[in-house]
Amino acid sequence: MAEFAELKVNGKEYKLPIIEGTEQEKGFDISKLRAESGMITLDTGFKNTGSTQSSVTFLDGEKGILRYRGYPIEQLAEKSTFLEVAYLLIYGELPTGQELFDFKSDIKKHQLVHEDMKKILQGFPSTAHPMGVLSSLATSLTAFFPESLDPNRSAEKINLTILRLLAKIPTLVSWSFTNARGIKANYPDNNLDYVGNFMKMMFNLPTEEYEIDPIVADAMEKIFILHADHEQNCSTSTVRIVGSSHANLYASVAAGINALWGPLHGGANQKVIEMLKNIIDNGGDAKKFLDKAKDPNDPFRLMGFGHRVYKNFDPRAQILKKQADKILERLGVDEPEFEIAKHLEEAALKDEYFIERKLYPNVDFYSGIIMKAIGIPIEMFPVMFSIGRLPGWIAQWKEMRAHNEPIGRPRQIYVGATERPYVEVSDRS
Ligand code: ACO
Repeated sequence: MAEFAELKVNGKEYKLPIIEGTEQEKGFDISKLRAESGMITLDTGFKNTGSTQSSVTFLDGEKGILRYRGYPIEQLAEKSTFLEVAYLLIYGELPTGQELFDFKSDIKKHQLVHEDMKKILQGFPSTAHPMGVLSSLATSLTAFFPESLDPNRSAEKINLTILRLLAKIPTLVSWSFTNARGIKANYPDNNLDYVGNFMKMMFNLPTEEYEIDPIVADAMEKIFILHADHEQNCSTSTVRIVGSSHANLYASVAAGINALWGPLHGGANQKVIEMLKNIIDNGGDAKKFLDKAKDPNDPFRLMGFGHRVYKNFDPRAQILKKQADKILERLGVDEPEFEIAKHLEEAALKDEYFIERKLYPNVDFYSGIIMKAIGIPIEMFPVMFSIGRLPGWIAQWKEMRAHNEPIGRPRQIYVGATERPYVEVSDRS
């Protein structure tokens, strides 16, 4: 039987249908509220607002659950690969052996990038931030594939854009990395898998062949899988809202990259490493910083601890902690940042302040440590996050278009000046 919520305003009652999801999440449907009552809801930051009904990703922050298309993140991280997860997110089901083989082959066919892209890259000054470069290059792809400007093309043609994006973004990322260092760009190697190929394009030198370390490649694979989607977060909502104006997929993804650039979203792992450096620069006393984080009169927070959504544990952090331990052991890196990180982690997990507030190391704490150990410069951390999040953005864009969602256009409560006559410049004091 249909359930309704009742809203009473000035004695008049409005019935709001209750929508229930497959995981028993409930929400009031207010889509007719303005037409019926003349009122809107106000929810800055959309903390209580569902923008869509989605079947891509489910997360329950209280219970520490994250599932892509119903499959637990723990099982995907252990048994799957990034490309298989990308297929799952984008097409809705795990691929058969043949489908996976075809998908991988299709991506390999599109990994090369037009040589003219190098001219665009070379136009950036060496001071360019890699996220700005990446979003520009993602948009530039429209110039090489102008037919993609029309998002109402056949599903087959849209699929070609999807394959091109998945194939070319890692090549572009590696080219922007080598370009910034003044090193010759590496070309994709179709004999390697997706992650191995990416690592080799990043780190291969004309003077020294890059050896793919399976532990390093596995850690990177897991970072990509764990970041592949996170339901209606800031960058994903951006991709959906830009796409809702019927902007093409490249442009929508470029907008997602820009949203992810912000330190409140994709930049948190960078902040973790900066904090560790700062602790070292200030004498290396981790306890002093732990105390600062606990001081209610000090705005300092321990970066990489706590999460807006996960209030008991971050399931992604539990998986990456094991990877971080393996990587540090394997590479034998003993930089002081890692010592401090271990110290902070151990101290915070035993500290009443952190236990009471359920502040555990989050995914950024460990992904920052892993990427630093692998040799990825910190300004590239959000770029790695972009490669990981790409399948999620694509899946969510595709779902939004399949649902034929209307253009995203929030309303507001206006609180500015009421009508007033224009004042001539000579009369203004
Ligand atoms: N260090 C010290 N104290 C903290 C921290 C922290 N990292 N995080 C929260 N607290 C404290 C707050 O001071 C507050 O204490 P109080 O109750 O005595 O006032 C309490 O814990 C609750 O904090 P809120 O700010 O209400 O928690 P919220 O859910 O809003 O914040 C957030 C979550 C933003 C992630 C926060 O924990 C934080 O700033 N962490 C550090 C930054 C970080 O690692 N961000 C990455 C998040 S993961 C991601 O975005 C993918």
